[in-house]
Amino acid sequence: GNAEGIVIAIDGPSGSGKSSTARGVATERGLRYLDTGAMYRAVTWWMLHHEVDVDDAAAVAAAASRPVVTMGTDPTAPTVRVDGVDVAREIRSREVTASVSAVSAVPRVRERLVALQRAVIAEARRGAPGIVVEGRDITTVVAPDAPVKLYLTASAEARAQRRSREVRTTDIAATQADLARRDLLDSSRAASPLTRTEDSLELETSGLTLDEVVAIVVKLVDEAAARE
Ligand code: DC
Repeated sequence: GNAEGIVIAIDGPSGSGKSSTARGVATERGLRYLDTGAMYRAVTWWMLHHEVDVDDAAAVAAAASRPVVTMGTDPTAPTVRVDGVDVAREIRSREVTASVSAVSAVPRVRERLVALQRAVIAEARRGAPGIVVEGRDITTVVAPDAPVKLYLTASAEARAQRRSREVRTTDIAATQADLARRDLLDSSRAASPLTRTEDSLELETSGLTLDEVVAIVVKLVDEAAARE
């Protein structure tokens, strides 16, 4: 009997199926959807576009408050804009993917995006039945009090195959190497590294279809909503 919308927090490494799962669950239950990785990618795109040296943490920190990131949270048509420009395609480029770990390791960038993420969540909870939020630090930092907290994993091979399909490459070995590199950077950085909280439910998705994973999570969401 809570009037406020529910929050579903999903963390996990790249290619674990977070985005597809989060969108599928949000679509089935009429919830909003927030891809926080897209926000770090959008800021990274802006830094590259404005010729900020992404390996210079002080330069990235100094510019961190300049890009204006706006997220559309419809799970069937999510949008990401920087300074009013739609960057949905640009943020999936190799350049952005290669630089996003460095940019997202800068504390000033994280502070700013976490504040924005919390504002999006608060707004969604007022107006909608809730929101599914996915990333690397959602269960630990952004929404640690979420009633549903999940940690999605999959084997290195399954993740590389999924990500290769997403970016339309046949070089699965190169994709796997890139994922391994980003995983290491994302889980070993000082600021909010990717970690699983004790009270998160770990879901290994390698042997499951997307529909199966979505069905499992929808059931968890319904159970949590009944408790709220
Ligand atoms: O999920 P993704 O591959 O689009 O995420 C891109 C990068 O952003 C990833 O390498 C780590 C970073 N990220 C983060 O640091 N914190 C989040 N909540 C989401 C993503």
